[in-house]
Amino acid sequence: MAATTSFPYPSAIFLSVLIISGFIFPETVNSMGINYGQIANNLPLPDDVVPLVKSIGISKIKLYDADPKVLKAFANTGVEFIVGLPNGYLSKVQDPAQAQSWVKSNVQAHLPATNITSIFVGNEVLTLNDTSLNNNLLPAMQSVHTALVGLGLDKQVAVTTAHSLSILETSFPPSAGAFRRDLTSCITPILNFHAKTGSPFLINAYPYFAYKSNPKQVQLDYVLFQPNSGSVDPATNLRYDNMLFAQIDAVYSALGSLGFKKLPVHISETGWPSKGDEDEAGATPENAKKYNGNLIKLICQKKGTPLRPGSDLNIYVFALFNENMKPGPSSERNFGLFKPDGSPAYPIELAAGNISLGNSSSSSGSGSSSGQGQVNPISNGGSPSDSSGTPYLSISSAPAMKRWDVIGGIPMTWLVVSLVMKHVL
Ligand SMILES: *[C@@H]1O[C@H](CO)[C@@H](O)[C@H](O)[C@H]1NC(C)=O
Ligand SMILES: *[C@@H]1O[C@H](CO)[C@@H](O)[C@H](O)[C@H]1NC(C)=O
Ligand SMILES: *[C@@H]1O[C@H](CO)[C@@H](O)[C@H](O)[C@H]1NC(C)=O
Ligand SMILES: *[C@@H]1O[C@H](CO)[C@@H](O)[C@H](O)[C@H]1NC(C)=O
Repeated sequence: MAATTSFPYPSAIFLSVLIISGFIFPETVNSMGINYGQIANNLPLPDDVVPLVKSIGISKIKLYDADPKVLKAFANTGVEFIVGLPNGYLSKVQDPAQAQSWVKSNVQAHLPATNITSIFVGNEVLTLNDTSLNNNLLPAMQSVHTALVGLGLDKQVAVTTAHSLSILETSFPPSAGAFRRDLTSCITPILNFHAKTGSPFLINAYPYFAYKSNPKQVQLDYVLFQPNSGSVDPATNLRYDNMLFAQIDAVYSALGSLGFKKLPVHISETGWPSKGDEDEAGATPENAKKYNGNLIKLICQKKGTPLRPGSDLNIYVFALFNENMKPGPSSERNFGLFKPDGSPAYPIELAAGNISLGNSSSSSGSGSSSGQGQVNPISNGGSPSDSSGTPYLSISSAPAMKRWDVIGGIPMTWLVVSLVMKHVL
């Protein structure tokens, strides 16, 4: 965890940057989660992040630790949290006393004001190929669960862990999805734990990495949820026109083949970088805008994947901010929807229905609700919000806080709408 220095501007300025930036997010983005990573030395103070998160209608946040400053800032906001128990603690929390003490100070201390709904114990542990970490994973999960039981919190706080998609040995066609054979003996008891305790299976899935490693073979439209003919899974006859859904269904298949067909799968991370090194194909603001904009639209449609139609797509976008201290290639530091000053990293828009909050793009959406998995292109020129480069103050009269209240009161039957993030400064 990197040190966080304080935000150089007072909150009022931060808030006005945000308001002037101009956003319209559909009310049902409510169902989208976001990863709040903090490997940076220039992020705003958590108190200043609250209005930002509220303004875009996000109601679920995933943290990589249990940063008390963040959890306190979001007290009584209605935002749900997944907190993380970092890999370095796995060995320690096998001691029941340590587990209980971790849960007391990192979870119980914040309840009920901050709604912590789950703890993910370890991040992408099984693909680090570290045998002792692997062996510690399930015992740590069990120990944390036992601590929750002891504190009477196990009904409200679930225990899980987040996996990299590379725990799969086969992911295409989706029906052939299978876990790495050398990991099966480790995964199976973890799946039993999920089934027994009722916690979801978390997977981090990035079509971006598939594209980056093979830009000549992988069709860009297919990874960006743009219109394309897709391909049919010969075993199920299901058509896939985007890679993320194919990846999710591959996970369902892998789970099914081990006898865990009913386990819910949540996408704990997915996203697209707006910038990368020269050899990182596809890392552009335009592609990031398409990926995240189309993804938000799909989440709003609530149609599920081809193999699990109607299932809730519990997706946490990576990430809230660009993180300037992440190691690795440039793309790693550029996955954020926002820059550290709270302005959008790139404009992102969505038109998936007829009704807009305010009246910014009424009936510009093009009847998107037909066809399983069908993705409409984000039109350029259909709605006023499309005009690139034009400052567009869609909610200029409504302060962020007020909008949140309005959003909360809007009937879910409303079709969504329009989403605009325009950086006008
Ligand atoms: C916390 O979130 C869960 C899951 O959405 C919800 O069922 C519960 O009512 C929330 N609790 C509070 C106190 O808001
Ligand atoms: C871990 O092991 C797998 C299977 O042997 C291999 O494919 C993968 O590259 C390894 N990952 C790392 C990070 O070493
Ligand atoms: C949206 O527009 C379509 C086509 O113009 C129309 O059939 C539909 O009734 C509209 N939906 C709403 C909620 O207004
Ligand atoms: C949108 O609202 C503004 C201000 O309330 C009004 O002037 C304008 O006519 C409206 N536009 C549409 C298309 O309803």
